[in-house]
Amino acid sequence: MLLPCVLFPLTVLANAGAHLDKAPIDASNHDSLQRGARTFVNNCLNCHSANYMRYNRLLEIGLTEKQIKDNLLFSGEKVGDTMKVAINPVDAKKWFGVAPPDLSVEVRARGADWVYSYMRSFYRDDTSATGWSNCVFDPVTCKVSMPHVLYELQGEQVMNHETHQLTLSKPGKLSVAEYDALAGDLTNFLAFMAEPAKQQRNHLGWVVLLFLGVLLVLTYKLKKAYWKDIH
Ligand code: HEC
Repeated sequence: MLLPCVLFPLTVLANAGAHLDKAPIDASNHDSLQRGARTFVNNCLNCHSANYMRYNRLLEIGLTEKQIKDNLLFSGEKVGDTMKVAINPVDAKKWFGVAPPDLSVEVRARGADWVYSYMRSFYRDDTSATGWSNCVFDPVTCKVSMPHVLYELQGEQVMNHETHQLTLSKPGKLSVAEYDALAGDLTNFLAFMAEPAKQQRNHLGWVVLLFLGVLLVLTYKLKKAYWKDIH
């Protein structure tokens, strides 16, 4: 009982600063999860691992073993392997200054809205080492060591330093709505990864409620039967 009271103000504090948009999370939308998985494997595993995630968990979102093998395994991994990172973490630390963190439970750590907003908030900044900054990552300095790996799709945004508004200065291959949808699918997949058992848990919850409902009716009938002769 005490824990939420302690944690709640902390999460509020941690998110203060940057404006966050609501992530379109839907654990039952397998098409969205599959698109998100493809984007993640193709664009993020170069630098980030997902050490708690095995490729064969993708069977749960409707992919077949053959689809996983043909489309998502590139360098001799097996379906039962965890999602390991392509670059050596020591090199990564040398190149970026920090090692890219494991993303298995990122959504649990930061929240889905944070991740969704982060993926849409990179902007061109000639003063930063990678040429990109992101005020969701650090609302004070806006500095981040991750380059905008999806910029060909999103295009380039610039920041108006007075209003703190981002505007698209150079369009990418996708329209704004299409890029938002891609970021949404990606976040949906990261949320699935962080809590793959959520759907089963929801299902179990309904079964338990149904069971309790049936039990209530039966006990009521039993009570009536017991007291029948007394009243
Ligand atoms: C070129 C390497 C590289 C690639 C590719 C990359 N990232 Fe990153 N990412 C980083 C680095 C480095 C950081 C650490 C940033 C920092 O601490 O300043 C980071 C940080 C993050 C964070 C914030 C972690 C935290 O909570 O502090 C998220 C979320 C993230 N990346 C998501 C992604 C996603 C999703 C993709 C694929 C679309 C991706 N990254 C691709 C290098 C990369």
